[in-house]
Amino acid sequence: MNSITVRDKEFVSYLTEDQIQQRIVKLAEELTTDYKDKNPLFIGVLNGSFMFVADLMKQLSIDCEIAFIRLSSYAGMESTGNVKQVLGLQDNVFGRHIVLLEDIVDSGLTMEQTVAFFEDRGPKSIEIATLLLKPESLEKDLSLKYVGFEIPEKFVVGYGLDYDGHGRNLKDIYQLKEG
Ligand code: IMP
Repeated sequence: MNSITVRDKEFVSYLTEDQIQQRIVKLAEELTTDYKDKNPLFIGVLNGSFMFVADLMKQLSIDCEIAFIRLSSYAGMESTGNVKQVLGLQDNVFGRHIVLLEDIVDSGLTMEQTVAFFEDRGPKSIEIATLLLKPESLEKDLSLKYVGFEIPEKFVVGYGLDYDGHGRNLKDIYQLKEG
């Protein structure tokens, strides 16, 4: 099996570029059916989603808009350590059909907080499209309408996902090697 080293860890091939692209074509078909004539606003969550957003958007020919946000933990005394601040949103989301685009949902905390942020701003609808989901790790009651792949509770890297800032540029997705 194809294995690589990222920083100090060894990873093995898990999802190939072809598998990812084939799944993205299917997701794009679903989104086309659901959002045709709705002018959705797709919002990618940086950094991890950049490859997924680019490839998904290339498969969509419906009228739509695309924006990106970044999340950062609140700094300062009131920080709880995991409350995320949404940075970079310039678009008005009131009355819009919003689709959040994420690389991976693990515990679901990040997406729960992000959805809450957008719900406060009065969108017409809000859905999540995530390339990867770890169902065994999910702790939050999230509606995940569009999921690329359900994967086991193991750390993955590549195709936008990083290990310690590295590996985002890999075309395939790799899984942490056992032992
Ligand atoms: P959650 O809030 O626990 O759902 O975590 C979501 C975030 O954790 C993702 O946006 C990723 O940045 C990161 N993450 C979770 N699992 C992995 C993984 O296996 N590889 C790389 N990043 C991950």
